[in-house]
Amino acid sequence: MTATEELRRQDNYALGRTPGEYERLRAQARVWESATGRLLDRVGLAPGASCLDAGCGPGETMRLMAQRVGPAGRVLGIDVDASLGAMAEAALHGAGHHHCHFRVHDLTAGGPIPGAPFDLVYARLLLFHLPQRRAVLARLWDAVAPGGHLVVQDYDLRSVDVLPALDSVEELGRVVTGAFTAAGCDVHAGARLPQLFVQAGAGVPDGTDVAGRIEPFGSGRTMLEHVFRSLLPTALAHGVTTETGAAATLAAIDRDAAHFPGSPLLWPLLIGAWKRKEQT
Ligand SMILES: C[S@@+](CC[C@H](N)C(=O)[O-])C[C@H]1O[C@@H](n2cnc3c(N)ncnc32)[C@H](O)[C@@H]1O
Repeated sequence: MTATEELRRQDNYALGRTPGEYERLRAQARVWESATGRLLDRVGLAPGASCLDAGCGPGETMRLMAQRVGPAGRVLGIDVDASLGAMAEAALHGAGHHHCHFRVHDLTAGGPIPGAPFDLVYARLLLFHLPQRRAVLARLWDAVAPGGHLVVQDYDLRSVDVLPALDSVEELGRVVTGAFTAAGCDVHAGARLPQLFVQAGAGVPDGTDVAGRIEPFGSGRTMLEHVFRSLLPTALAHGVTTETGAAATLAAIDRDAAHFPGSPLLWPLLIGAWKRKEQT
């Protein structure tokens, strides 16, 4: 078993840890750059601040933080994936962001969050994946310094659809939702953030934000297919589809994209919530 396969087995992460998935995460992060940047600005992230990106993945949000806090600030990314984190740190240092650092950390293991407290604790598309999302959010809230902010953004997959409705997209959606759910993910995590903030002891969020994206099916199918491919081992392991069924779904997407390249495809909603911790 390779180190990557061993990590997948240990942490049960639905999307897997392949170069293709890492590249998909980078492309996805570029799409949401302005939606995330506006929340960082909304909570007033300023030069000199200390930030945590929990479940930082490829480190794209760490870059947005680094640009705002400047060299007098501090940006720490934590993730359970050591190799993706090392790549993120190398890329950030290569771009001159030497105040960014990465530490391997499993947020479900219960240990103290390294480097806490922070002026900003941020997590995007992390809680979605974690059955222990309430306990992890409570831990993130604990890591916020008095006067600092907790900011979370997560998906709600309900909006994913194309007009006119297509059987191929419906089947792809069934497999994606089924595989995520079987792996313990919450496909409505974004919509549940306000409730989750309360349950985690942070209280009612100070604000919420909903970001969306619509693009022609001809180009938008790429992200759909990449998610499908990354999830396929999980879907097969849980019996949500078969190798033959998956191949048929991808072929149907190909055919439909050729017939309906201009049909509007709506992405998942990226829902944000934030809360300031009172000064003590
Ligand atoms: C969908 S990716 C999102 C990455 C990044 N936040 C972004 O928005 O581009 C989810 C990330 O959470 C990380 N992750 C999953 N379980 C984790 C855990 N228990 N502790 C820390 N990170 C975890 C994964 O390794 C992955 O990098």
